[in-house]
Amino acid sequence: MIKKMPVRQLRPGVFIDHFESGWLNHPFLFNHKRIKDQQTIDKMIEWGIEEVYIDTDRGLDIETDEKPGQPTETEIDFTKVEEKAAPRPEVHASFEEEVRRAAQVRGQARRVIHRLLDDVRNGTAIDINEAHELISEMDSTVARNKDALLLLMRIRTRDEYTFMHSVSVGALLIAFCRSLGLDGEAARIIGLGGLLHDVGKMAVPLAILNKPASLTDQEFAIIKRHALDCKEILAKTPHIPPTAALIARQHHERYDGTGYPFNLKGDQISPAAQMAAIVDVFDAITADRCYHEGMDQVAALRKIYGWRKDHFNETLVHHFIRCVGVYPPGTVVRLASGRIGVVTESTDELLKPVVRVVYDASQDWAITPKDVDLSRQDPSFGDRIISHESAQRWRIEPLKILGVTVKP
Ligand SMILES: [Fe+2]
Ligand SMILES: [Fe+2]
Repeated sequence: MIKKMPVRQLRPGVFIDHFESGWLNHPFLFNHKRIKDQQTIDKMIEWGIEEVYIDTDRGLDIETDEKPGQPTETEIDFTKVEEKAAPRPEVHASFEEEVRRAAQVRGQARRVIHRLLDDVRNGTAIDINEAHELISEMDSTVARNKDALLLLMRIRTRDEYTFMHSVSVGALLIAFCRSLGLDGEAARIIGLGGLLHDVGKMAVPLAILNKPASLTDQEFAIIKRHALDCKEILAKTPHIPPTAALIARQHHERYDGTGYPFNLKGDQISPAAQMAAIVDVFDAITADRCYHEGMDQVAALRKIYGWRKDHFNETLVHHFIRCVGVYPPGTVVRLASGRIGVVTESTDELLKPVVRVVYDASQDWAITPKDVDLSRQDPSFGDRIISHESAQRWRIEPLKILGVTVKP
C-alpha cells in the first residue's frame, strides 16, 4: 500500500515510493528506494522535505494517524540512465598528485583560452587544433579524477572572469558528459562547445563586459547579443562541430521558453545546450566577480535545483547534482561527531564523500588533520555529515587544508 508519511516518522527499512511534488530544495536523486540508514532521513529533514509516500508492500510499515495520501504524479525515472553512468576509475593517484597534474592542465588551459579569445577580439581566425588538444587533455584529466580539476577551476582572479569561466564551463561539461556515460567523442565536442560558448562576448566593448556595477537595460541588451554574434565568429573557423556551435547559440535559452535569443522551448533546444545552460549558470553564480562574491557551491546547487522545473531540463539537473556532488570538494562540513572538515573527494555515495577533518567543535580545538572516507565506515559507529558550514565561520581556508598552492 502506498501511504503518505511525515519524514520525521520515517525509519530505516521503509521503501520510498515517490516524493511529494513541489519540493524545491532537496538533492535526492532517486524516485523510489529502500532507505537503509538514518543519515538519508536526516538529510531529507535538513533539506526541508516534510512528507514522502512510502510503499508498505516493499518495505517497513509505520503506523501513522494520517489517512493514506493519493499518490501524486511520479517524478522522472532516471534509474535507467544511472545504470549507464560511467564507473569511477578504480585506481587513481593520491589527491595531491591529481591536483599537481590538474594544475598543469589548468595552466595550459589559461594560455590557450587567452590566445583564443584574444584572436577572436582581434578578428584573427581561431587555432582550433590548439583548442582540440586542450579539450583532450582536460578529458583525460577528468576521466582520472574530475574532483581535482573542478576544484582548481574555482581558483581565479576576479578580472579574468570571462577567460576562466570559459575553461570552467568546458571542464564541467566534460565531467557532466562522462558522468552521463556519454562516449569520449561526445564529451570532447560538448566540452569544446563549453570552451567556445561565450566567444560572442568578444564583440562586446570591454567597458561593458568588465563593468564593476549592475548593467543598464541598454548594456544588458548589448551583452545579450553575444548569443547571436557567436555565429558569425565561429563561421570564420572551419571544422567547428555543429553541436559546439549550437551550444554557443543556445546556452541562454531556457527550458520554459523565457531565454534568449529565440525563446526556444523544451526539446527545441539542443540537449547539449540544455546541459550547457545548467553548467553556465552554476559557474557564473559561484564565481567571484569584480562586483560581487560568488555563492558557495552547495547554495548554488540548491538554486539550480529550484530552477529545475522552469529554466532547465529537470532530469539533467538531477544528473548535474550527481556529477558535481551534493558536497563538492572544498566544501566545509560538520560531522555528527562534532568534527569540522573539508571535503576532499567524492565517492560513489553522494552524501558520503571523503572529508579531511581538522577541528573539533565540541572541544573547540584544532585536531591533527585526518582523511575520513564516510562511504567506507561501519554504519553502526561511523560518522556522517550533518550540515555544510561557512569556511569563514571556522576560519578555515579549504584550499590550504587540501594542500592546493596554485596561484589564481
Ligand atoms: Fe553566455
Ligand atoms: Fe557563459
